[in-house]
Amino acid sequence: MKEEIKSVQLQLEEDLQSVADEKALKELRIRFLGRKGLITNLFRKLGEVPKEERPLFGKMLNELRQRAEDAISEKRSRFGEKAPTDWIDLTLPGRKPIVARKHPLTQVREEIKQIFAQMGFSVAEGPEVETDYYNFEALNIPKLHPARDMQDTLYISEELVLRTHTSPVQIRTMEKQKPPIRIIAPGRVYRRDTPDASHSPFFHQVEGLCVDKNISLGDLKAVLSVFAQKMFGQDARVRFRPSFFPFTEPSAEMDLWWQTPKGGEWLEIMGCGMVHPNVLEGVGIDSRVYSGYAFGMGIDRIAMLKFGITDIRLLYDNDMRFLQQF
Ligand code: DAH
Repeated sequence: MKEEIKSVQLQLEEDLQSVADEKALKELRIRFLGRKGLITNLFRKLGEVPKEERPLFGKMLNELRQRAEDAISEKRSRFGEKAPTDWIDLTLPGRKPIVARKHPLTQVREEIKQIFAQMGFSVAEGPEVETDYYNFEALNIPKLHPARDMQDTLYISEELVLRTHTSPVQIRTMEKQKPPIRIIAPGRVYRRDTPDASHSPFFHQVEGLCVDKNISLGDLKAVLSVFAQKMFGQDARVRFRPSFFPFTEPSAEMDLWWQTPKGGEWLEIMGCGMVHPNVLEGVGIDSRVYSGYAFGMGIDRIAMLKFGITDIRLLYDNDMRFLQQF
């Protein structure tokens, strides 16, 4: 019996050496552990062995069977690794994709558009590289006029500038469209400013223009007051303060009351006024028949107020730690 066990053991080790694939491994398992396998047969013979020798041979056989099972499963997993398609682990946690979110400026711009859309304003656009004519002259700001000093300008050539405000879109719209006109024009604008916490050489504005018969300063105040309430809440308080812009007459600044724990202050939110007759006449609109109002606000300023951002440069740094907060 001992000899037989030893010889099966040798054969097992020899055969294990030459097993090269899953099919050969399966055959080997049947040859040794199958119903008529070599090891199985030895277990059957155990009954014929003298009683006192049985425990010893039983132990040897158990060890042999264990060795065969271990070797087979070890080889099986090695073959398995070569076929990774069989080994997709569905229980592993997935890789989470990074989902983008809207930049705070985009969020505020979309909110502004939506508020004015509810009041009947559609969206107009214009180029960022603008002619001197649209950026200044058509807006009643002649060459060499001191009002040009209000906006430090980046010139591309004598006649081309990076637009300093979105007001030129007023002119482009009125050239194309007859009254009634009700548009807002969001977009990027440029000024020759050195960046600091409150200045950036580029920022964003929304222009507004309404031209029709019988438009008054009352319409302007009503529309902008509603805007402030929708943007900053029902309790928002605004005031209109006389100001000067070459393209409006009269002109005003709209201030928003900003409540703070210690008190509060009036913050300048936008410029506005009644469209200057020279501007209307310049685009061929009869200023005795039509009147209109216009306004312009900074999107960055509003976003900073709304979200409590203290440095405008954060809006342009593309720092994920900042952007992920919105
Ligand atoms: N364009 C002005 C600026 O950038 C803002 C402005 C003021 C726009 C009054 C207007 C307006 O349409 O009526 O400072």
